[in-house]
Amino acid sequence: MTMPIYVVWGIALAVCCCLWIIFGVRRRKIGEPPLENGLIPYLGCALKFGANPLEFLRANQRKHGHVFTCKLMGKYVHFITNSLSYHKVLCHGKYFDWKKFHYTTSAKAFGHRSIDPSDGNTTENIQSTFSKTLQGDALAALTQAMMENLQVTLRPQGAGPLTAAWVTEGMYAFCYRVMFEAGYLTLFGRDLARQDVQRGLIRSSLDHFKEFDRVFPALVAGLPIRAFKTAHRAREKLAEGLGHERLRLISLRMHLNDTLSTFDDAEKARTHLALLWASQANTIPATFWSLFQMIRSPEAMEAASEEVQKALEKAGQQLSFEGKPVHLSQMQLNDLPVLDSIIKEALRLSSASLNIRTAKEDFTLHLEDGSYNIRKDDIIALYPQLMHLDPEIYPDPLTFKYDRYLDENRKTKTTFYSNGIKLKYYYMPFGSGATICPGRLFAVQEIKQFLILMLLYFELELVESHVKCPPLDQSRAGLGILPPLHDIEFKYKFKY
Ligand code: HEM
Repeated sequence: MTMPIYVVWGIALAVCCCLWIIFGVRRRKIGEPPLENGLIPYLGCALKFGANPLEFLRANQRKHGHVFTCKLMGKYVHFITNSLSYHKVLCHGKYFDWKKFHYTTSAKAFGHRSIDPSDGNTTENIQSTFSKTLQGDALAALTQAMMENLQVTLRPQGAGPLTAAWVTEGMYAFCYRVMFEAGYLTLFGRDLARQDVQRGLIRSSLDHFKEFDRVFPALVAGLPIRAFKTAHRAREKLAEGLGHERLRLISLRMHLNDTLSTFDDAEKARTHLALLWASQANTIPATFWSLFQMIRSPEAMEAASEEVQKALEKAGQQLSFEGKPVHLSQMQLNDLPVLDSIIKEALRLSSASLNIRTAKEDFTLHLEDGSYNIRKDDIIALYPQLMHLDPEIYPDPLTFKYDRYLDENRKTKTTFYSNGIKLKYYYMPFGSGATICPGRLFAVQEIKQFLILMLLYFELELVESHVKCPPLDQSRAGLGILPPLHDIEFKYKFKY
């Protein structure tokens, strides 16, 4: 008598399951954090984590305490969730490899060769190149160019007179358009002779950028770009416009040229695309949230307008729509604690970045509340949103309070506590340690410049005055600032 085929398949499946349970499932060893293997081979807990990382991590925190391990896409990820331990994690730098994941992801997403200096294609860590060219002296040039370009973008186009009519637009669409255009012009230069042609090119680059950025979470998760035909085409089109000679800032052009000396023009353009993405993908939603939260809060609007007026008077600057653009120096921009606090608070509420490091060898991680054995190739992860929304550190954590980062003297507040202990890290939308965002200082300056100009140029109103805050788009959790799930209509009209 022969067995029916489904019985044979059933037995084979049962044997595979037994083998997987015996050999494929990792078991927790003494001294290691509690382990969640998940039920699905390879994926582990990835589906639950992906659906809502914050809730998933909070549930595991309640179950296991501050440190636990989850299997995600074949990797074992140790989550450290106690904010008091963040600085201790960063002290273990010698055991961490932060490059592997970053460099592989960048190569896959943007299509360039390996930029890991140990592979011989590049002469130094590109992170160091960016730090040199987006900070220090270079920052002043970047900031000045951005202020001018924002004004070119915001001022009425063409030679027609200024109209005093209200314009209604989606606020996210508006921030996207203005920040993309001004940011693009700042990095890749303005073609004064052919401004209209260039504007058209930037608008089509913006469409390509949106198309490519839409699939970015899937690329980071490991899917190949060839699986997304339109996005693939958009990426190639974007890179075509980003030749090396287009880089406007001389120090950036020179340093990148040295670092990427073995790359041909097409491959350099792909690394410029990586820079374009890094400079826009988080800044655009961050600008939206800063503007939205400011307009929504009458006290924030009043305090910000007053601060901007005073700063302009102090700097001896006057607003003019046709004449010289408004200019504020780095020092003047750094002295705007109310705008700083508004931006920080908006980013605290919308940031969901994942800071990860790979263990180079077996080692013991010594934290505030215990020590844990970590195996080679495992991942150590921080998810600062847990800290940003912790009611003990930030009372009433879901409410926007424009002055949360101001002290009693209306200066920047830097003391925050957990469990009665002063925190070293309390605000981390830009990552931490070796992989901290090299563009963070510029990012804050450009958002501030945008808010200043919006307050100076326009009367601003929400179409629906008591509009609810749109939910965050969780599909991008882990990548940085989450965009709103839907747009919000607002009205603006030139003041004069
Ligand atoms: C609000 C705006 C921004 C936010 C929230 C943000 C956040 C981040 C985060 C979380 C990372 C990854 C850190 C990690 O892996 O641990 C990063 C990397 C990076 N960011 Fe930003 N960023 C912003 C704006 C900018 C701007 C304006 C630029 C450039 C002009 C920039 C350039 C970069 C670059 C080049 C990297 C990759 C560095 C590397 O190769 O490791 N970012 N950013």
